Amino acid sequence: MGSRRLFLTTALGAIGAVLAFAAGWPVWRYLSPMEEPGEEERIALDREDVPLGVAHFFRFRGQPAVVLQSSPGVYYAFSAICTHLGCIVQWLPEQREFLCPCHAGRFSPDGRVLSGPPPRPLDSLPVTVVDNRLLIG
Ligand code: FES
Repeated sequence: MGSRRLFLTTALGAIGAVLAFAAGWPVWRYLSPMEEPGEEERIALDREDVPLGVAHFFRFRGQPAVVLQSSPGVYYAFSAICTHLGCIVQWLPEQREFLCPCHAGRFSPDGRVLSGPPPRPLDSLPVTVVDNRLLIG
């Protein structure tokens, strides 16, 4: 009789522990800080892919991004997500500005807000020129 009670107590305890883990895991994942991306997650582009005045769109850490050579040897890289409500900006080469098609937010080649509802500049990404490559991120 004593060993049967011990078995039931142990089994119920194990089941309780599994249920507590299953219930707590999503909460722990939600509250734990996001992992910082490592150096290896930088993007390398050939400088030839970013000619003067041309915006080159790419994906960076799963999000749309853009790099622009605004004057010879001067590069700016941004998240291509508008800081208003998250639409993807377009580059207008004739006007030399980014336009958000959703509410006509306009941004300068260096990401500053020119007009419209965006509350802040485009989120910039660091660009490093190494030989004939651009390292972004
Ligand atoms: S989402 Fe870009 S201006 Fe509104």
